[in-house]
Amino acid sequence: MIQTKLIRENIYSFKAIGYLDLDFHGCIFRNEEGASYNSYIVIDEQVTLIDLVDQPFMDEFIRRIKEVLGDRKIDNIIINHVEPDHAGGFEQLRAEYPESICFCSSEAKKSMLQMFFKQHEFETVKNLETITTGKYTFTFVLTPFIHWPDNMIAYLNEERILFSNDAFGSLANSNKFYDDEYEYSELIRHTKEYYANIVQPCNRFVQTKLQEILDLNLELDLICPAHGVIWRKHITDIINQYIRWAKNGDVKDKVIIVYDTIWDNTELIANEIAVGIANRGFEVRIFNASKHRKSLIMSEIMDARGILVGSSNFNNTMSPQIADVLERIIALKPLNKVGMAFGSYGWADVHLNRIESRLKEANVQIVQHALYENFTPDEAQLIYAKEVGEKFGKKIEELKSYD
Ligand code: FEO
Repeated sequence: MIQTKLIRENIYSFKAIGYLDLDFHGCIFRNEEGASYNSYIVIDEQVTLIDLVDQPFMDEFIRRIKEVLGDRKIDNIIINHVEPDHAGGFEQLRAEYPESICFCSSEAKKSMLQMFFKQHEFETVKNLETITTGKYTFTFVLTPFIHWPDNMIAYLNEERILFSNDAFGSLANSNKFYDDEYEYSELIRHTKEYYANIVQPCNRFVQTKLQEILDLNLELDLICPAHGVIWRKHITDIINQYIRWAKNGDVKDKVIIVYDTIWDNTELIANEIAVGIANRGFEVRIFNASKHRKSLIMSEIMDARGILVGSSNFNNTMSPQIADVLERIIALKPLNKVGMAFGSYGWADVHLNRIESRLKEANVQIVQHALYENFTPDEAQLIYAKEVGEKFGKKIEELKSYD
């Protein structure tokens, strides 16, 4: 379903609502809550479309555009970002509007030539370059590596609207268009999960680019991202929230335990460690890597101090679900975490070295040796696991005192 809304005189938003679309940003992120994809059109002497929606929606998207424009043509297509959830339908749209000009960064042009193998009319823009469409002017701000090299954002000066593409996006997925139509805490939950999985690896770039944008002193009435809600009430809140996330400033006295278990033995250990950590006053959240969605686990890790990763031995390595979690931690680069490995094994205890080495690769500081037990832990071993949890909590307290 794509809903169209007039958000300002002559400016429309198209929201493609993917209730059944469990994949988000390709097949890497499965999310049973779905995701939404936003596009915008600005009608002036020239008509300008800003970003597309995900490819499966393209037929309906073109119908909705025609409901708004009738026989008028699109003159300009601003591609803020080439990832296929925003630009994958470009060929189909261009076939409808063959005389349109595509404005994008030079990196985006390179990628689009490689994606579509066709030389279109591309106008590459530089940082702070401006175009005029009649009474309106757009200023482009290049935002490389937030989160791909080609990303940019477009600012509509006269209406004080920032079209921010992936930045400030969220997983909020309904036909509510604006931030104030949600409970703020629910919206932040959706936005945090989005940030953790899409933007987090670019923390360093977010810090510098956001400051650069703030130094431009742009007036902002609306921030219009390509996912989730339009920000109109909580603009300052979400900018400040981005600054805190980018600096790891929201970290809590929280520890995440993520495990996978074949015959429940690793789960027994996870539970006792959790009790030990909780006894030290920490919030502990336990996730089963086979059962919980990975993007939620990553969101929870982002503002935790500690990560414990547990697995049964699977022949000569760890559980594939845990390998998936660890590769995500490496890719998403959460800042300043401490961790340890644990698990149960049958006849070879080789997998915990692998877990530890993956955690180190993700810059997680290993503060305690791996805890491993043979087959089912007995009562004494479970008591020991609880003590290990308490020691882990104590270690975090000691490290905090040096912060
Ligand atoms: Fe929503 Fe980077 O694409």
